[in-house]
Amino acid sequence: YMINNTFLTAAVIAGVLFYGGTLVLNDAMSAGSLVSFMLYQQSLSASFQSLGDVFSALSAAVGAADKVIELINKPPAFIESGTEKPDRDLVGSIEFRNVSFSYPARPGITILENFSLSIRPGEVVALVGPSGGGKSSIVKLLERQYLPSNGAVLIDGRDIGSYDKKWLRQRVALVGQEPVLFARSIKRNIIYGMETDDGLPEEQVPDDEE
Ligand SMILES: Nc1ncnc2c1ncn2[C@@H]1O[C@H](COP(=O)(O)OP(=O)(O)OP(=O)(O)O)[C@@H](O)[C@H]1O
Ligand SMILES: [Mg+2]
Repeated sequence: YMINNTFLTAAVIAGVLFYGGTLVLNDAMSAGSLVSFMLYQQSLSASFQSLGDVFSALSAAVGAADKVIELINKPPAFIESGTEKPDRDLVGSIEFRNVSFSYPARPGITILENFSLSIRPGEVVALVGPSGGGKSSIVKLLERQYLPSNGAVLIDGRDIGSYDKKWLRQRVALVGQEPVLFARSIKRNIIYGMETDDGLPEEQVPDDEE
């Protein structure tokens, strides 16, 4: 393809030079006109090339957008019906009460069986165990990314399912091992999901420099 492309371009230039040269020699055209014709031709072909680049970038973008839209339209695995929006903020007591859990994708494999854990507000807790032991799964259950098959996860003594989803998401933060950053300012990344209906909670957020 490259050879074809370069060869064709060179052949066209040689052809124009040859024909134009003959015209110039026969006084049918001035040398200046030939030079400007060739210059115009060059910038025209460059423009067509960049048009082609735009179209290939555009089709790549359409392909990527397809995936994003598919994700946006994906129905949730379970519908959250919780409506509880307490006026006070969360105190932060966490309880897993006799939780059993297996992933919907692998129902045969039990990840947690009759698991109970109670964490007081302000307490720092480390979950330690072998790889695949279920530590991240516990966090996912606390994040309400999955429903426990049995038992309940409670925050401040209330099942997390009873809280309004948006309300809860605005109050629980997760810092992952491998943080995903969106192509925005650090500030925007920090307050992601905290946007309230009446705007951003500006005063709670440090500036980018901090
Ligand atoms: N989305 C998923 N679907 C099905 N099975 C999963 C899913 N995520 C994790 N698992 C399985 O659940 C089990 C527990 O995984 P989990 O990620 O909770 O372990 P972990 O203790 O966090 O391990 P690590 O120390 O490697 O982070 C593993 O057997 C894993 O293969
Ligand atoms: Mg893990």
